[in-house]
Amino acid sequence: SGLITLDSGFKNTGSTASSITFLDGEKGILRYRGYAIEELAEKSSFLEVAHLLIYGELPTATELETLKGDVKKNQLVHEDVKTILAGFPSNAHPMGVLSSLATAQTAFFPESLDPNRAAEKVDITIRRLLAKLPTFVAWAHTKEAGMPPNYPDPSLDYVQNFLRMMFTVPGQEYEIDPIVTEALERILILHADHEQNCSTSTVRIVGSSQASLYASVAAGISALWGPLHGGANQAVIQMLEKIREDGGDVQKYIEKAKDKNDPFRLMGFGHRVYKNFDPRAKILKRNADEVLNKLGVTDPVLDIAKTLEETALKDEYFIERKLYPNVDFYSGIIMRAIGIPTVMFPVLFSMGRLPGWIAQWKEMREHKEPIGRPRQVYVGENLRPYVPVEKR
Ligand code: CMC
Repeated sequence: SGLITLDSGFKNTGSTASSITFLDGEKGILRYRGYAIEELAEKSSFLEVAHLLIYGELPTATELETLKGDVKKNQLVHEDVKTILAGFPSNAHPMGVLSSLATAQTAFFPESLDPNRAAEKVDITIRRLLAKLPTFVAWAHTKEAGMPPNYPDPSLDYVQNFLRMMFTVPGQEYEIDPIVTEALERILILHADHEQNCSTSTVRIVGSSQASLYASVAAGISALWGPLHGGANQAVIQMLEKIREDGGDVQKYIEKAKDKNDPFRLMGFGHRVYKNFDPRAKILKRNADEVLNKLGVTDPVLDIAKTLEETALKDEYFIERKLYPNVDFYSGIIMRAIGIPTVMFPVLFSMGRLPGWIAQWKEMREHKEPIGRPRQVYVGENLRPYVPVEKR
């Protein structure tokens, strides 16, 4: 059976060869299909980036129109989905609701379960997912907020339509705010892929058993749910709220974070891969100031965030260890400023990460990768004789 190398957490094991996302943690570089994240965040739309990740190229004008059209055609969901939604207790966590609704699509599109037929249907399945996930995300929110779910509006673009479903009830006017739309579009682009992270590896490994794309994405949502992954953005705001309730003494929390006998860490600071800076955070930092100024937001928690950031970046402890704010520090601040409830932060992360999950699933299938099946180093008992129950 050969020698098995143990690598807990796969810190040094490449699971695949991939042409989708390039990441250099030392230099703070992130590129999708060779395009700098900075340029995409500035110039592209979320659907263009989705096309780029999934199909390998930025769409031509015609391809983009087709994609937009397909999304509009498919964003309505089966009425029975509303019945499923209604069956959840009112305190259901929206990540659980989202994952369940994604899996439930296998019932409405059973051909996705047949590996032979699924191959012909990949493209429409991809478009259905891109189209319907924002509806599910918005409905997970309305459920949690006790609002009736609103239907998609095909006259609006991808992000506008999503925001309208999030914030309005049926029949209510929705006023498009370009500042809010642009801010969210950028956040979604910056979250769209991040190579072989926990949820993406999950999607690839589930898909490697030839499970349907819906089921694979639902598994990705579950992996993202954890506080060490997609839940960190929520933890940042919870930390800031705690500091505020405690009198707003930022320095006290900086000292706590530096104290090796105190388990407290500054949430939203530091990163496993980025040892220089997180390029996504750099973009969002600029963007946070801009969005807050333009919206004229005066949230005391946001003021605490700014003071905390300034103080930490001047502190020797953080400078020495190259601890910079990561993407989660600023994304939470912006999402809060545009009115997204904290419990929804990881859910929005799912919506942003969807194109990456799809692209990685598709690449894995096209490469005909074998089923994901890690080995182990057995450290249990050697062979021992069975003991009847009366003798134990
Ligand atoms: N606050 C205070 N000290 C810190 C922090 C922090 N946030 N992060 C790292 N350090 C210290 C750590 O104590 C260690 O100090 P020393 O060398 O004196 O023992 C040094 O910096 C190196 O830290 P590490 O834990 O060895 O670094 P890591 O790569 O294992 O951890 C991390 C990375 C992101 C888990 C960690 O920085 C952390 O816990 N940050 C706070 C949580 C957070 O914001 N997570 C979101 C990460 S971005 C999400 C994503 O990628 O999806």
